[in-house]
Amino acid sequence: MAYRVLICDDEADIRESLRVLLTDEGFEVTAVAAGANAVAEAPDHDAVLLDIKMAGQDGLETLAQLRRRGVTTPVIMISGHGDVRTAMEAVRAGANDFLEKPLSSEHVLNALRRVLDSSRLARENEELRRRLGITRLVGSAPVMKKLLADVAKAAPTPATILIVGPSGTGKELVARSIHEGSAVRSGPFVQVNCAAIPETLIESELFGHEKGSFTGAERKQVGKFVEADGGTIFLDEIGDMSLSAQAKVLRVLQEGEVEPVGSPRVVRVKVRVIAATNRDLTKMIGQGKFREDLYYRLAVIPIPTPALADHPEDVPALVLHFADLFARTNNYRPKRFTDDALAALAARAWPGNVRELKNLVERLMIMTDGDVIDASDVEPSAAPDAAPQGPPVVVRGGKVVREGEEPEGPLPVDEVWGRLVAIPALQAFQDEAERLYLVAKLAENGGNVTRTAEAIETPRSNLYKKLDRYGLKRERDEARREEGTP
Ligand SMILES: Nc1ncnc2c1ncn2[C@@H]1O[C@H](COP(=O)(O)OP(=O)(O)OP(=O)(O)O)[C@@H](O)[C@H]1O
Ligand SMILES: [Mg+2]
Repeated sequence: MAYRVLICDDEADIRESLRVLLTDEGFEVTAVAAGANAVAEAPDHDAVLLDIKMAGQDGLETLAQLRRRGVTTPVIMISGHGDVRTAMEAVRAGANDFLEKPLSSEHVLNALRRVLDSSRLARENEELRRRLGITRLVGSAPVMKKLLADVAKAAPTPATILIVGPSGTGKELVARSIHEGSAVRSGPFVQVNCAAIPETLIESELFGHEKGSFTGAERKQVGKFVEADGGTIFLDEIGDMSLSAQAKVLRVLQEGEVEPVGSPRVVRVKVRVIAATNRDLTKMIGQGKFREDLYYRLAVIPIPTPALADHPEDVPALVLHFADLFARTNNYRPKRFTDDALAALAARAWPGNVRELKNLVERLMIMTDGDVIDASDVEPSAAPDAAPQGPPVVVRGGKVVREGEEPEGPLPVDEVWGRLVAIPALQAFQDEAERLYLVAKLAENGGNVTRTAEAIETPRSNLYKKLDRYGLKRERDEARREEGTP
């Protein structure tokens, strides 16, 4: 299918020559003369060529309107010769690229291919992540059903969300799931760990700063809010943010305006805000450590994540999920967990919640010899309070049943496991998905294996193994050549 390109320029001859050029190259072209028409048409197109200097509503205002409405279609701005300053301003305001007049066919086509490629890659990566199950929330206990329903209801709205729950309960995963289910899913997802940034730097990190605005500010920095324009910003550990940063975040939420440190000007942004914390913010309000007004702004939709102790019946499903994910992403032999092993795991206290469970599953996958993990392989928990919580958990066929209840039919755990690993078509599909994912990641990182391995959070040696397995050496070398790295 041909890509649809929208041209917006008030000069008829430029519109016409661009139309001829792009139609010849097989694009489907719409041309409009006014910014207002471009705003209306852009969502139905794959890319926009937008003139900056137009009579009436100019290109910058048009671009700002588009981004305010959450339209993420890539935009290439066309600036007058030598007008680099305006062009840079446009890029900062959310343009994806810019071209200088007089236009050359080659530059127009290159820029267009570049923005189309990167938006296609972003879409594909997101689709692959979804299909690979990396952002899948697992669990069917009542508390998890409630969580999934909360996510499904909240995701498509632009409302601000506050995710609250103990450490390791999937707050980050919930934030990503919300972004992926939102209207701005093709826009960026920018995560900020507020606890990891020193208090003196957090404002410039979030809002950006001008060159020379404070000692050490040698370069201008674009803030995370501007980076997230047209997408989602995830303010993780918001309870660790200073009061003065809180005041500025409040202003963004109220006015949609960002004020870079040391800049006399404000930047307008349209960003979906999701915040998370494992702290008790209402208690912090009482102690004067958290702004009450910000709390109410953030908690438009509060979403609590449950401790694993509140849904031990999900432990078997989580174990199978993590074992499968680990085997696939690390090219490991799948292993089977016996019912006894699953029951032993479900009976533990899990003070570190799902993260602790995930770590243990990975450890078991690596350390256990053979293809079967039994109760005796599951070492007793080191935590002194690891006595079984609540009613004993009985596992039959990989599923939790209440004591005394008859297990249904033959052992479905083997069946479930068999389905996960044995059906050749599924395996082939998973391989293909992983192969495509690696191709995309390699291209994104210029064929550099070290950077790619970092981006997908896998050891380099493992990535090499995978490249071998999927015969991807050529892709690696080609990407390298194009980037000009040795
Ligand atoms: N319900 C779930 N289904 C699948 N994976 C989960 C689930 N809950 C958590 N995880 C996984 O467990 C790990 C820890 O979750 P996450 O990082 O989202 O926790 P968190 O609540 O943000 O913790 P912290 O407060 O320490 O930052 C991640 O790898 C996440 O993917
Ligand atoms: Mg987290």
